[in-house]
Amino acid sequence: MNKERILVSGVQPTGRLHIGNYLGAMKQFVELQNDYESYIFIADLHALTTLQNPKELSENIVDIATDYLAIGLNPDRVTLFKQSDVPQVTELAWIFNTITTVPYLMRAHAFKDAEANRSEVNVGTFDYPLLMAADILIQDADVVPVGLDQKQHIEITRDVALKFNRIFGDVFRVPEPLILENVQTILGTDGRKMSKSYKNTISLFSTDTEIQEAVMKIPTDSKGVNEPKDPDKDNIFALHKYFTEGPEFGELRDKYEAGGVGYRESKEILIKNIISFISPLREKRNKLAEKPKEIIEILKAGGEKARKRAEEKMKEVREKIGVNIY
Ligand code: ADP
Ligand code: TRP
Repeated sequence: MNKERILVSGVQPTGRLHIGNYLGAMKQFVELQNDYESYIFIADLHALTTLQNPKELSENIVDIATDYLAIGLNPDRVTLFKQSDVPQVTELAWIFNTITTVPYLMRAHAFKDAEANRSEVNVGTFDYPLLMAADILIQDADVVPVGLDQKQHIEITRDVALKFNRIFGDVFRVPEPLILENVQTILGTDGRKMSKSYKNTISLFSTDTEIQEAVMKIPTDSKGVNEPKDPDKDNIFALHKYFTEGPEFGELRDKYEAGGVGYRESKEILIKNIISFISPLREKRNKLAEKPKEIIEILKAGGEKARKRAEEKMKEVREKIGVNIY
């Protein structure tokens, strides 16, 4: 393992994780944990921009930590922590605020979407990409595994690092995104991007009944069993690409193209395959969830380690910007 290479990524504790989060981002955290020194966190301060319910936030934090362990992150290798245990990121985000212009941040897709959907967007939502840049740059990340929808945030992070370095001198590494080219944005059960905020998800740890209900909701056109169908334009088939393997996948594609499989049958096959993927994860998660105290201890220890690293970096930053006069 090249231990000097640093990996940083996080997920917001805004609800139950779904298969889009897993396939788009989290699967890579597990696959890469032996190749990088990894810092994986729970973005609780980011979550506050949309979730302002203390009980729910606390529960979600422990839930996501449990999820991280259930998908196979090994706390002996990976530093697992919650963002709020590293308050230095908010200090750094403030400094980034001062070198970033308003029109530049207004071009962010997430802000534009929020503005289109809500009448009053909070400052945190506007500033979101700079807190994210701080999360990444404060740990000297080389790589940031994320889903396609986060690509622009990593571009902003790179711009901010370069700008800071230009103004104050070399401090930050310029990180690369790691986006799985063969995983497109996973669509939800309403045909939009699968997202916790759209309530169109298939949760990563769903019960069999929940999986069944979610898949049955996926919208289709009204083609009959024997009519040919374009597999690349069908929301059900889009998920078969991730859950149906081997000859079953090839046969299904052929049947879509030639006619001979109905959407109902396609959904039933998908339900069976998602269940066989999810049930071992669910069992592992149920076992872990019996010991929440151990999970909290893992987060505490990870927080301490991440905070120490961040503080070292901030000493350098404070020196460069000229506030360290002692
Ligand atoms: P959500 O949109 O459900 O709130 P987050 O914004 O917390 O999810 O995203 C966590 C990670 O999962 C990010 O790296 C993001 O790119 C990835 N991700 C989220 N939704 C999808 C999706 N539908 N397809 C692929 N990756 C996704
Ligand atoms: N914005 C990310 C998301 O919605 C979460 C996040 C916050 C993040 N800070 C990060 C991801 C730093 C990677 C690195 O998914």
